[in-house]
Amino acid sequence: MNRAEKLLSQMTLAEKLGQLTMTAAGYAVTGPVIAGDSTEAIKSGAIGNLLNLVGPGPVREMQQLAIEHSRLKIPLLIGLDIIHGHRTLFPIPLGEAALFDPQTWEATAREAAREGAADGLALTFSPMLDVSRDIRWGRTAEGSGEDTWVAVQMARAKVKGYEGTDLSAPESLAACAKHYCAYAPVLAGREYAQVDISERTLMEVHVPPFDAAVAAGVATIMPAFTDLDGVPMTANKKLLRHHLRDQLGFQGVIVSDYNAIAELLHHRIAADLPQAAALALNASVDIDMMSDAYRNGLPVALERGLVTMAQIDESVLRVLRLKERLGLFDDPYRRGSRQEAPAVLTHRRELCRSVGARSIVMLKNDRETLPLRGRLRRLCVIGPLGDAAVEMGGCWGAAGRPEDRISVLAGLRAALSGTDIVHADGVAFAGGDATGIAAAVDLCNDADAVVLCIGEKADMSGEAASRAFPEVPPLQRALAEAVFERAHARGLRVVVVLFSGRPLVIPWLADAADAILAAWFLGNEAGNAIADVVSGKISPSGRTPMSWPRAIGQIPVFYGERPTGRPYNPKDHFTSRYMDVSNEPLYPFGHGLTYGHFVLSNLVVASDELAEKDTLDVRVDVSNEGAAAAEETVFLFIHDKVATVTRPVLELKGVGKVTLRPGETRTVRLSVPGTELRFLGLDLTPVFEPGQIEVLVGPCADRTQLLLRTIQLV
Ligand code: BGC
Repeated sequence: MNRAEKLLSQMTLAEKLGQLTMTAAGYAVTGPVIAGDSTEAIKSGAIGNLLNLVGPGPVREMQQLAIEHSRLKIPLLIGLDIIHGHRTLFPIPLGEAALFDPQTWEATAREAAREGAADGLALTFSPMLDVSRDIRWGRTAEGSGEDTWVAVQMARAKVKGYEGTDLSAPESLAACAKHYCAYAPVLAGREYAQVDISERTLMEVHVPPFDAAVAAGVATIMPAFTDLDGVPMTANKKLLRHHLRDQLGFQGVIVSDYNAIAELLHHRIAADLPQAAALALNASVDIDMMSDAYRNGLPVALERGLVTMAQIDESVLRVLRLKERLGLFDDPYRRGSRQEAPAVLTHRRELCRSVGARSIVMLKNDRETLPLRGRLRRLCVIGPLGDAAVEMGGCWGAAGRPEDRISVLAGLRAALSGTDIVHADGVAFAGGDATGIAAAVDLCNDADAVVLCIGEKADMSGEAASRAFPEVPPLQRALAEAVFERAHARGLRVVVVLFSGRPLVIPWLADAADAILAAWFLGNEAGNAIADVVSGKISPSGRTPMSWPRAIGQIPVFYGERPTGRPYNPKDHFTSRYMDVSNEPLYPFGHGLTYGHFVLSNLVVASDELAEKDTLDVRVDVSNEGAAAAEETVFLFIHDKVATVTRPVLELKGVGKVTLRPGETRTVRLSVPGTELRFLGLDLTPVFEPGQIEVLVGPCADRTQLLLRTIQLV
């Protein structure tokens, strides 16, 4: 018998259920007590796992209760949402996705893991792998955007970054792939609402990132709050037990979302807690987070014959094995015992700044407004996000401290020391007070340029932050319009730094602004990162991982839709289109300008014929014809010309990057394994269908900007 089995054989039912329970540490003080006094509950073995504890001191204190006072001395598993950094906040995931750079995604996860582990934590509820095509959904901010291929790369990079090569290392955290699955396509973008999508969309779009996380060795998975086709994910036997466990062989821990087991009652598929608990356990959910449904419900469910002790044991073993893999039995204090060296912190801060700058997407730059050049005597920074350090943290503050964050104002002042920089909020986030607009606009009278900082407040995206009007809030729009009028009348250029946890619907802004930087929420170094781009120290290189709609009614708009029988034709009324707006997004997936000017040429596909066992090898020449060094991103799409099922008009298969000096040309090479050209056939099993495919390469998902070659699959 191994350690886990031996322990299991000694456990009472209450102790077993303790291992299947996760509760918030400070909850007894701040909210309804779900587990009685957690101190006593840990000592008695009634609680085996905690979340929302911060700091090495409190973590150690709790761990000591389990190790020194509980009968079996089983260490606690302690987790926290370390979503985009722990104390050092990096850009929100959607912002970081704009890098299209898995190595950097891995590096930031690694740093977040080291920092979280230094605080004694062993588990993070990250990465979020939900593919989101609906910008109304606030959690769009937490994922990598609209594309499945990108989410798959993100899954691999983040799991590797958090877990490292050895989960037991004191610098590694167990990752949690969430929210399994298809949480993003909630009805009308409304948080927690029903989900009804086709099985094809489920399997093609939403499942692959989770499959990739499992293949990368993810330690835990969290089911989504939502239902799918009438079956809540927390009780979804088909996707949890059948797909994850039986088909993929996932042996890790499935941890419910917060109170999700109890919410099966609200979903109306369980009449009481024992039934809810049984449904979740039958689906193979191992840990009950915050419902207390397992502790209170499973004993009754056992009596009723709804579950078996063998099922409970199976889950307990999985939890014990995870604790073992994390090295917690050997040394429960291996995390949180060592302070990090100052050099490590400096490196992390530098990484944060450079990732921040690289996350910025320059949506527009008319007449080379950016970078700000020449001697600027006075610059005015206008808008409620100009001096808003706290907001820079974005939707998951984790353990980050507001005082560690740099505002745009502070960043610009540090970067442009010879310039007098003045600031006015103009309007507040809340309320309807427009009286500050006039004074803010007056700042333009005696300035050389304007940086207008507007958009969402950090808490307008993230969980429970759906918006029916995903736009710049009305009062800020009024401010912006007044600024444009005055600034333009005086010949000043206006640079908009736009903050948001999602693309926003901004056609009016795109018309009026001279330059727009999509700055998401960039974390601790936001102001410095923005100043690096505004001042020209760094050329912007981010590419939007989501399409930006021109109108709310276009939502969801994404590049990978399937063709229609009546494709848009301006000369034919009866084709797929709106009467009142174009079909095209305002900014397509992959769009993003730089301070260089890139021209792609000579697209070569190595072979005209390709079998499944082959590799699609593509090369293209990229030249920088601009006046500044910059990084170009090259996207490789395919389109299947004739297939047994309709295939998306474009499918991303690869991304390449190259940094070029002015006048420099280099060849970018991309390879795609033939197996990745398979798709789900009529019966939803993978097929490699002979026939022609188009290979399209270029700077974004706008087909008119792509170079094209056609090859034959054989
Ligand atoms: C969220 C999860 C998160 C959990 C724990 C839930 O409300 O949906 O993403 O991991 O809380 O904080």
